[in-house]
Amino acid sequence: MKITERPGQAIGATVEEFDYATASVADIEALKQTVYTKKIAVLKDQDLSPHQFLELGKRLGRPEVYYEPMYKHPEVEEIFVSSNVPEDGRQIGVPKTGKFWHADYQFMPDPFGLTLIYPQVVPEKNRGTYFIDMGSAYEKLSEELKSEIGGMYCRHSVRKYFKIRPHDVYRPLSEILDEVEQKTPPVVQPTTFLHPMTGERVLYLSEGFTVGIEDEEGKPLDDDLLRRLFEATGQLDETFTHDNIHLQTFEKGDLLVWDNRSLIHRARHTSTPEPTVSYRVTVHDEKKLYDADAAA
Ligand SMILES: [Fe+2]
Repeated sequence: MKITERPGQAIGATVEEFDYATASVADIEALKQTVYTKKIAVLKDQDLSPHQFLELGKRLGRPEVYYEPMYKHPEVEEIFVSSNVPEDGRQIGVPKTGKFWHADYQFMPDPFGLTLIYPQVVPEKNRGTYFIDMGSAYEKLSEELKSEIGGMYCRHSVRKYFKIRPHDVYRPLSEILDEVEQKTPPVVQPTTFLHPMTGERVLYLSEGFTVGIEDEEGKPLDDDLLRRLFEATGQLDETFTHDNIHLQTFEKGDLLVWDNRSLIHRARHTSTPEPTVSYRVTVHDEKKLYDADAAA
């Protein structure tokens, strides 16, 4: 296994000659450390069946099965499928996923630490995913904003981006919304926390899933504070030229592993849709999202 950090770039490392089946415990540890410190590791030249992709994921942690069944791979339920390419005339997985800033499972009580994406059909033109490192984005906030959010909490919900399922057709919208609130009630997390693997302070919010900011007693703060945080971190920049935004490209055979605590991401916008298929496995590592006992 050969790890190459991208010279001069804060984000990203390339990992060559990685074989999940023969990697030593030390290799796995080195890979995970690279993900935590460089945020994204690109494993090159991977040629894996869906079952093997899951096995690779299991070397890094405990897989989490996505809670909505329509995203699941027909044979390997731990694989979440994003696809706009029908197979034998049948829709597999869900098209157009993640076209908004988010961290995976940010709206759930126990988000996982690592996301693995294995592109299957790679678009010709608009390939890649946008990322923002919310550790360095926090560092760059003004002192005034940092002090405004000290000790505050954010409320996260899937409600804005919950995708209507085939069986929701003809259901009243209010009934679907009630079901979303009941099944996935909003969760409250500290606005910043220390990354349990690196000690870095992370700003934990996203335009897609964060629906409110409040003080420690749950009293809502002005929504404009959230808007200023989205703006300062680059999430309102529809041109994707903000300094904080990193476009991670990939080619066939690449498998991306990223730090789901400190990175938020967004699928790249395409005005002309191209065939795209991607498999995702998500895993819990040894720690929770953050260490509740650590000094805030
Ligand atoms: Fe995502």
